[in-house]
Amino acid sequence: MTHDRPAPDPSRRPADEQPLLEINHLGVDFALGTSVVHAVRDVSLHVRAGETLAVVGESGSGKTATALSVLRLNPSPPCVYPSGEILFDGHDLLRLPEKQLGRIRGRDIAMVFQDPMTCLDPLQRVGAQVAEVLRHHTGMSRAEAREAALAALDEVGIPDPALRFRQYPHELSGGLRQRVMIATALVARPRLLIADEPTTALDVTVQRQILDLLVALQHKHRMAVLLITHDLAVVAETADRVAVMNRGEVVETGDVLDVFEHPADDYTRTLLAATPRLEAA
Ligand SMILES: Nc1ncnc2c1ncn2[C@@H]1O[C@H](COP(=O)(O)OP(=O)(O)OP(=O)(O)O)[C@@H](O)[C@H]1O
Ligand SMILES: [Mg+2]
Repeated sequence: MTHDRPAPDPSRRPADEQPLLEINHLGVDFALGTSVVHAVRDVSLHVRAGETLAVVGESGSGKTATALSVLRLNPSPPCVYPSGEILFDGHDLLRLPEKQLGRIRGRDIAMVFQDPMTCLDPLQRVGAQVAEVLRHHTGMSRAEAREAALAALDEVGIPDPALRFRQYPHELSGGLRQRVMIATALVARPRLLIADEPTTALDVTVQRQILDLLVALQHKHRMAVLLITHDLAVVAETADRVAVMNRGEVVETGDVLDVFEHPADDYTRTLLAATPRLEAA
């Protein structure tokens, strides 16, 4: 059963009425030999422009499978989508022809992951990789894309961007690589950013910096963010709304403060109880 709460007070933040992304009754199955894993079952979520929706839940609860479905990035086979729709700008991304979806990927919807090396090409200089996104999605010339890529590296707080521009991913620290991936994701000014555990691989102090950076850039560009994290303290600090997933289903969703202060679902209570700092707050 899903515990859905009334929307938060709209005066709190000027979010649009219409969701930018709307996932309705999504199912994701993985067919493994003769058995089928129902990784995601009847999941409905939405994100409005300018807001952050956090998705939490223990390992294997279907968070990544849900997020990857938005850009149809689950490996297929074994993945199939037995039910649901994913509406973005009035288009159902689950049924959009691959060519049209390709134009949305990276331009309107971008993703960042825990491990930047899943996105970065080890054999290509980082500046070229950021510029490549612009060359692909806009009519920019090589020189214009280079200028914009340098500005993007600067915007994500990379010192001496002209030097870093020429380096390869292995020449950068983990924190800098994460910033490069964020620059790559944000350089085309996407309207929606999907961030799947974007900081868990980093030192605590670097985690803090990267999250602060994401929040600052989100406000600056009025981006919508779907943030997947294990860390409920991060949710409390950065998200407007939260969806709690358990065994492939959304068991509770609502305003972060409401859900954390008055969890309606037993599983949410268990999750909160496992985070002493929040429980005490
Ligand atoms: N490519 C795949 N092939 C087969 N099964 C998969 C695949 N990807 C995910 N699954 C299964 O789907 C279920 C949900 O996995 P998912 O990766 O979405 O969990 P998660 O909530 O993101 O977990 P974590 O917090 O560990 O990242 C799990 O049972 C997982 O084993
Ligand atoms: Mg995951």
